[in-house]
Amino acid sequence: CNYLVEKSRGDVIDTLVEGLQRLEYRGYDSTGIAIDGDEPDSTLIYKQIGKVAALEKEIEAEKPNRDVTFVSHCGIAHTRWATHGEPKWSNCHPQRSDTASDFVIVHNGIITNFRELKQLLINKGYKFESDTDTECIAKLFKHLYDTNLKHGNEPDFHELTMQVLLELDGSYGLLCRSVHYPNEVIATRKGSPLLIGVKSERKLKVDFVDVEFPDTDEAQPEIPLNSTRGEARNFLPIASNESALRRSQSRAFLSEDGAPNPVEFFVSSDAASVVKHTKKVLFLEDDDIAHIYDGELHIHRSRREIGASATRSIQTLEMELAQIMKGSYKHFMQKEIFEQPDSTFNTMRGRIDFENNSVMLGGLNSWLPVIRRARRLIMIACGTSYHSCLATRAIFEELSEIPVSVELASDFLDRKTPVFRDDIAVFVSQSGETADTMLALKYCLERGALTVGIVNNVGSSISRVTHCGVHINAGPEIGVASTKAYTSQYIALVMFALSLSDDRVSKLDRRREIIQGLKKIPEQIRKVLLMEPRIKELCEKELKDQKSLLLLGRGYQFASALEGALKIKEISYMHSEGVLAGELKHGVLALVDENLPIIAFGTRDSLFPKVVSSIEQVTARKGRPIIICNENDEVWAAKAANSNLATLEVPLTVDCLQGLLNIIPLQLTSYWLAVNKNIDVDFPRNLAKSVTVE
Ligand code: G6P
Repeated sequence: CNYLVEKSRGDVIDTLVEGLQRLEYRGYDSTGIAIDGDEPDSTLIYKQIGKVAALEKEIEAEKPNRDVTFVSHCGIAHTRWATHGEPKWSNCHPQRSDTASDFVIVHNGIITNFRELKQLLINKGYKFESDTDTECIAKLFKHLYDTNLKHGNEPDFHELTMQVLLELDGSYGLLCRSVHYPNEVIATRKGSPLLIGVKSERKLKVDFVDVEFPDTDEAQPEIPLNSTRGEARNFLPIASNESALRRSQSRAFLSEDGAPNPVEFFVSSDAASVVKHTKKVLFLEDDDIAHIYDGELHIHRSRREIGASATRSIQTLEMELAQIMKGSYKHFMQKEIFEQPDSTFNTMRGRIDFENNSVMLGGLNSWLPVIRRARRLIMIACGTSYHSCLATRAIFEELSEIPVSVELASDFLDRKTPVFRDDIAVFVSQSGETADTMLALKYCLERGALTVGIVNNVGSSISRVTHCGVHINAGPEIGVASTKAYTSQYIALVMFALSLSDDRVSKLDRRREIIQGLKKIPEQIRKVLLMEPRIKELCEKELKDQKSLLLLGRGYQFASALEGALKIKEISYMHSEGVLAGELKHGVLALVDENLPIIAFGTRDSLFPKVVSSIEQVTARKGRPIIICNENDEVWAAKAANSNLATLEVPLTVDCLQGLLNIIPLQLTSYWLAVNKNIDVDFPRNLAKSVTVE
C-alpha cells in the first residue's frame, strides 16, 4: 500500500510478485494477487496453481496495462499451502465476496466455524466458488457491509472488520481490500503472524506507536444488526457508534507534521518479503486490526483485554537481503548446510568467554535463579526443533540436576499434560510461529509456568510471548529442511544448560571441557563439510535406488538418528527410520539383510562398546552398515578390513557435542539423495517451512 509515491501498475505487480517469491518457502501450492483494475472501483485478480513463476506467466499472458500510474494503491498477494480444499484455481487466494470482487481477502490460518458460516451465507443467497474457509470471510465482509447500509450505517473499514471478526472462530492473519474503501487496506491477526514494514523518505514523527485503550466503563450504545452471529449463535450486539469505537481504537500518525507523508507500507507474514524495501517494521499482535489509508497507519483492537500491551514499537530488522538469496549455491538447503561454520559461531558470538570458561545469555540472565529452583523443566517443540531438545536433554539433566521432559507440542496438548506454576517450559522453534508450539505455549502461560523461548526468528510470536529466552542467531533459514537452525538450537540449549550450572563447583571441569569443545565446533564443522564429494558418490552409487534406510544410534546419537531420518524422508522421499540401537534386537533386526542400507553412529562416548555390539548383530546378519565414526578409530578400521562395513570419519569432540558434527553427513546425504532424484530440494511436496495451522 503506498501513498503519494508515484508507481506504475507494473511496479505494483513486480513488488507483489517479488514479495511472494521470498515467501514461497513457507507454502507453495498456489499463488495469487489482487490490484486496482482499469475502471474506477474495480479489482483485477490473477491466480495460478503451482509456484510464483506460474503466476508470473499468467500475468504476462493476461497483459494488464503496466503503464497506468497511481499515487495511492493497495495490492494484496498470497502464496498458499492448502489446508481446506485441494490446490486448484478456485481455491487460490485472493478469495472474493462476489463476481464484482467487492471485498477480496488473503488469509493464513484456519476458520474453524467456516461450515456454519458457509451454510448461513448460502441460506442468504451467497454462491460459493471455492472449498476454502477464506471465501466465507470475504462474503461475510460483504454481507455485513450491505446489512450496515440497510440500517443507514456506513461503517469505517476497521469498524466493519470488527463486526466480521466477531463472527470468526479459529486463527487468521488476513488482509482485506475493497472497492468500497479504495486505497485502504485492513491487516488483522489472531494466531498467525503479520508485520508491517514502513518506508518513508521523511523522518517519522514517532518511532513508536503508542496505543491507548481508554478504560472507561461508560455504557456502550448497542445497535443490533441483523448479523450472522445473531443467527449462528447467541445474539451479541455489535457496538458501532463513535463513542463505543473509541474504547478499542487508537491512532498512530506517522506523518511528521500533519502534512501528507509519502509513505509505503508493506504488510507481510514474514520479514523476508519486506527487507528489500525497508528495515523498519512493526509486529502486529493478536487481535490487532491495522487500518492503512491516507498514508497513515491506525491500530485498533478487536477485543478489549486487561493487561494487553499498549505499544507497538517500530523495530529495525537486522536481516540483510543477501542472507535470503541463494548466492552461488544451487539450493537454499545447500547454502544453509555450508553456512554452519558461521551460523554456529554466531550463536555463540558475544555469549561465551572462552578464556574464563563462562557463558552469559542476556535474555535469560535475570531469570536463572528462578529457573534453578524449578522442580521440572519441560522442553516443547515440533519436527527438527524437537530433535534438538532430545539431543541436549541429557546434558541439561547432568548440568542442571533438574528432571527434564521433552514433548512434541501436539501430543503435549492432546494429553492435557499437567503443568504447574513452578515448572519451566522451554519452547524451541526456528520460525517462532509454529501453531502447535504456540498453542502449547499459551497452555503453559495459562497455568502459570515460566516460559522460555529458544527461537531463530526475531520478533516472532514465540519470542514475544515467552517471559525470557535466547535468539539462536542462525540468520534466516529458507530451505524447508531445517539444517543450520538445528545446530544453532543445539548450541543455544547447551549454553542454556551451562548457564544453569555456573554456580556449581562440582561441575567446573565438565563445564570447561564443554566450553572448550564448543570453541572448536565451527572449524570442525568446516572439516566435516569437506566430506561432500564422498557423500555425493555414496548417494549416487549405493543409496540412490534404495527404498528404505535405517539409522542406528544410542545415547546422544539417538537424536542424530531421528533427525537424520527426518531429513532423508522430507527431502528425498525415501523411507527412513531412526532406531535406538538398544532396541534393534526387539524388532527392527527382522528387517536386516544384505540389501537394507544402514547408517550407524559409532563415534566415541561411554556407550561405544554397546554400539559396537549392536553393529555386530547387524553384520552377523549380512548387513552392510556404514559407520559414522571418529577419525582414525582403530576399532572400526579393523572391522572395515574384515567385514562388509564402510566408514565416514568425523572429528572427535566432547560426547554431548558430537551430535553437532555427526548430523552434517546426514544433512548432506539427504541433500544429494534428493538432487539425484531431481527433487526440488527447497520445495519438497506437501511440506511448508512454517506450519501456522494445527
Ligand atoms: C515444519 C518444518 C520443519 C520444522 C518444524 C518445526 O514441519 O518443515 O523443518 O522443524 O515445522 O518448526 P519450527 O519453526 O517450530 O522450528
